[in-house]
Amino acid sequence: MKAAVLQAPGAPENLIIKEIAAPTIQDTEVLVKVKAVSINPVDVKTRSGKALYGQLKTENPVIVGWDMAGEVTDIGKDVKQFKPGDAVFGMVNFPGHGKAYAEYVAAPESHLALKPANITYQEAAATTLAALTAWQVLVHLANIKSGHKVFIQAAAGGVGHYAVQIAKHFGAYTIGTASVTNADFLKEIGLDEHIDYTKEDFTEQAEDVDIFFDTLGVDSVAKAISVVKNNGQIISILGGCNEDNNEKAAAANIKTTNYLVQSSGEDMKQLAQLLAAGHLKAHVSQQFDFENIADAHRQVETGKTRGKVVLNLP
Ligand SMILES: NC(=O)c1ccc[n+]([C@@H]2O[C@H](COP(=O)([O-])OP(=O)(O)OC[C@H]3O[C@@H](n4cnc5c(N)ncnc54)[C@H](OP(=O)(O)O)[C@@H]3O)[C@@H](O)[C@H]2O)c1
Repeated sequence: MKAAVLQAPGAPENLIIKEIAAPTIQDTEVLVKVKAVSINPVDVKTRSGKALYGQLKTENPVIVGWDMAGEVTDIGKDVKQFKPGDAVFGMVNFPGHGKAYAEYVAAPESHLALKPANITYQEAAATTLAALTAWQVLVHLANIKSGHKVFIQAAAGGVGHYAVQIAKHFGAYTIGTASVTNADFLKEIGLDEHIDYTKEDFTEQAEDVDIFFDTLGVDSVAKAISVVKNNGQIISILGGCNEDNNEKAAAANIKTTNYLVQSSGEDMKQLAQLLAAGHLKAHVSQQFDFENIADAHRQVETGKTRGKVVLNLP
């Protein structure tokens, strides 16, 4: 099969498409013929030698990628939920070696859900790591409720655009940051209040926030403390809750948590239900052919992607 093998950590050109043996499956895994893969900032960081590279390099070859959608071609003997021919999607083995940049992926059945019939493989591949992050943060950690005021940093990005839709689905009021180029897009996906971070300081615009969803890191969390209400919470997916911020937040009776997304078929099923019902929609802003994977990485590396970037497999 064809796979994008990371020759050495570094530039996007280090992802080389090669013929390698297809993976073999364990008893609890399914073999998936991949149709589409989505790219995340963690893919870019790992490819350049950061994030999960240290873990991945212990196995040869290193194949980056976690988000995929495709068709089941074989199942292990203990697999209960899927059969050959099923269309599935999921985030495979995160945080671990997902090996999704390949024509075939061996995926634990516990990381997958059936793809809803009303969405494409591209939309399905896009609704994995970023959507799971938004779901796990808002639902499992923050215990989001109707009427909550939710502040989402980078609301037009992969995680952000799902966070806005999920928060709205739960009946929350949403405030989000993005540049003015994303103002109309954010309105379309249901954001209540847009703050153009290039012109405005959110600490002067927002107050009484119940859930602050940080995607930017330490400086963002430091500022968030002044807009979150007593008994509110800040959850960072970029390590923004450091010791200093945690101390200041605790003094204001604000709970702080750093979070790393985890593979979960159960959560994928919840996302599948929202997608099937039309309550959640992936915005795939750009698609690339598999052989142009380096261009897809360059796009995600800009930090300016709207929604998601997807690769199409042959
Ligand atoms: N811990 C975890 O489990 C986890 C999971 C997923 C992601 N992450 C991390 O979270 C971050 C966001 O991920 P993502 O997939 O959403 O990234 P992404 O899709 O690349 O985000 C792109 C978006 O960021 C916006 N943006 C850039 N700078 C901004 C700023 N200063 N203020 C507000 N918006 C800004 C851009 O909007 P404009 O073009 O309008 O500027 C763009 O739409 C990444 O660092 C990623 O590695 C962590």
